[in-house]
Amino acid sequence: MKSKFLQIILVVTLVFNYSCNESVSEKEIFISDLMSKMTLDEKVGQMNQYNGFWDATGPLPKKGYEKGRYDDLRNGLVGSMLNVTGVKNVSALQKIAVEETRLGIPLIFGFDVIHGYKTISPIPLAESASWDIKAIEKSARIAAEEAAAAGLNWTFAPMVDIYRDARWGRVMEGAGEDTYLGSVIATARVNGFQGENLSDFSTIAACAKHFAAYGFPEAGRDYNTADINKYTLYNNVLPPFKAALDAGVSTFMNAFNTLNEVPATGSKFLQRDILKGDWGFEGFVVSDWGSIGEMIPHGYAKDGVHAAELAANAGSDMDMESSLYVRELQGLVKDGKVDISVIDDAVKRILGVKYDLGLFEDPYKYCDLEREKTVIGSKENNLAALDMAKKSIVLLKNESSLLPIKKNGQKITLIGHLANDNNSPLGNWRGAGESNSAVTVLEGLENYGKNSITYKKGVDLYYGETNFHNRVKLNHTDKTGFKEAKLAAKSADIVVMVLGEEGFQSGEGRSRTELGLPGLQQELLEEVYKINKNIVLVLMNGRPLNLTWADENIPAILETWHLGTQSGNAIAQVLYGDYNPSGKLTMSFPRNVGQVPLYYNYKKTGRPGASSAEVTKSTYADVENSPLYPFGYGLSYTNFTYSELSLSSKEITRDDTIVVSVKITNTGKVKGKEVAQMYIRDHYGSLARPVKELKGFELLELNPGETKEVSFEIDNSKLVYYTANDRWESETGKFSVFIGGDSDVKDNKSFDLIN
Ligand code: NOJ
Repeated sequence: MKSKFLQIILVVTLVFNYSCNESVSEKEIFISDLMSKMTLDEKVGQMNQYNGFWDATGPLPKKGYEKGRYDDLRNGLVGSMLNVTGVKNVSALQKIAVEETRLGIPLIFGFDVIHGYKTISPIPLAESASWDIKAIEKSARIAAEEAAAAGLNWTFAPMVDIYRDARWGRVMEGAGEDTYLGSVIATARVNGFQGENLSDFSTIAACAKHFAAYGFPEAGRDYNTADINKYTLYNNVLPPFKAALDAGVSTFMNAFNTLNEVPATGSKFLQRDILKGDWGFEGFVVSDWGSIGEMIPHGYAKDGVHAAELAANAGSDMDMESSLYVRELQGLVKDGKVDISVIDDAVKRILGVKYDLGLFEDPYKYCDLEREKTVIGSKENNLAALDMAKKSIVLLKNESSLLPIKKNGQKITLIGHLANDNNSPLGNWRGAGESNSAVTVLEGLENYGKNSITYKKGVDLYYGETNFHNRVKLNHTDKTGFKEAKLAAKSADIVVMVLGEEGFQSGEGRSRTELGLPGLQQELLEEVYKINKNIVLVLMNGRPLNLTWADENIPAILETWHLGTQSGNAIAQVLYGDYNPSGKLTMSFPRNVGQVPLYYNYKKTGRPGASSAEVTKSTYADVENSPLYPFGYGLSYTNFTYSELSLSSKEITRDDTIVVSVKITNTGKVKGKEVAQMYIRDHYGSLARPVKELKGFELLELNPGETKEVSFEIDNSKLVYYTANDRWESETGKFSVFIGGDSDVKDNKSFDLIN
């Protein structure tokens, strides 16, 4: 089909011949030419995003609205659709936009491709535990390739929110509690989704979300108020967004929460001053689902008209599903409440991203039925998902080297609902992943070993959730399965218990007030333990859990999160020692829920303390301050020792670079990977400083007996922070540098920043 745009492109090419800056001006001329033809209605239409009518992740307007929406589409009043997937569906709607609207402007199709489209990778929190940046980028790349083959051109990912509270269900969706690691991973994910050339048919636009401070909801309750000071915002929350922007992210999504009393969606400070002002972001900002309308219940907007005015003026360019822009913006412009320049700016940004994607050249470039068949769910993609899954597993405890398990001659009793669950490992935000398509632990153990395996469920886990919206709590009280499980455990050489959260127990709207093993699982664990103590606890979960009892009693604990399509194969390979676990936690695991928010880079207070015996110190009476497992922690089937920490100089100026090195030796019997982590402590400053902050890391592999030296460069960029002077700068004084295998590392060397 010859699009109207081919004609426009011809004109543009002629004009372009006279231009001096080719690529920039071609795009600008094209867009301004197009915009000069657009009516106000059509401009506002570009700022309107509708859901695909049949799958929703938030409250939907009343039934029977579909026809009106198709009419809007035909009238050029829709710029984007979300949740429309598959070449057939995408092409059908694109055809309406291209062939039936006056100007034929193509739609941009967005979807939550968070950890895979159909081939599902580990949940993002799990992937972050790999600390393997190349693998994470590859995982995003594959997700993009599959999504693009399904007609999509925009993902609402990566979520780059920093968070410290395991009660919040969305911790599963990000890269953990640390800003430095979060920034590195944000860059990798944007590069993975967008590739080197956004207009390639296999890359899609990424979206850094949720701008900003959505990860700091009070009491860990989703959508709740965020009250954080300006310094936490600048030093902890914003850097991963800035990293995404520096990597060229095309879009941002704002957030549901208020930040210091102002809804993020209506925040000029966030969207206009910081993002589009200080940072010079040229892409567009989409609201979160209905978040423009939600400024009314927030107590910030009087009504829908007011909400649309506030959001547009604050810099929210596209309205996801509140329909307020398409309803109200024309009137607001006519009444002088929203200046036409605000609309023009938003439309220019939206058309700019469509242009970068190459949609004007070929609106159907993502719609190739043949590609859809071959790319999605390919063997290579499954192998990559398996690789990522293995790398994401964290070994938390391995007393007396109970793991790895021998591959044959063992009597294994496998217990737990999750051990034979092919749905939960897909986790939440599973894209177009097919329900019940994951490899179970039971299957994995059978695929990789020759042991005799007896499986017993023990107890039901599901609490009755059927889809994204409905939560029907089923309090399982039926313990009849305990008996069989215990009986089977009695004669086993090893009992593998797979316990944790089902796939939809974490994610959006899944906040919890307690962090124990849900339902009767803890009781089952304790009962089986009375019969056979040789237990390997395999955890599946989307957030840190309270594992205090397990840590005291169970000899081996493996954190496997929700690992996606290849879950059972990855777990079996680790249990059998075909793969030596190398993951490290990216969120601190608490001793109990009362410790959260919990994070390694805390401030010392004026009365630093650690033990519950210290009364007038900043401590608890009942538990130690420290986490059960710290940030950065994870074991291997081998051991690593760190020695000879050294600094190239004891003084540094802002123009210098010093080098810190350490030797790492594999003192065990098998090859293994270690994540060497460098932390810096700034001893004092114009603001109270954290005890230490991650500033570098390296993933290295060592043969048994092998020693390698790891070095990190420290220059001014590693010492700056957003100071009391409201700028990024370093401050003279003493610093200490630590290198170790987790954030609890003690060994350090100090230097002074002198000027
Ligand atoms: C609401 C979520 O907060 C956001 O992250 C997601 O992208 C949208 N729904 C669309 O599904």
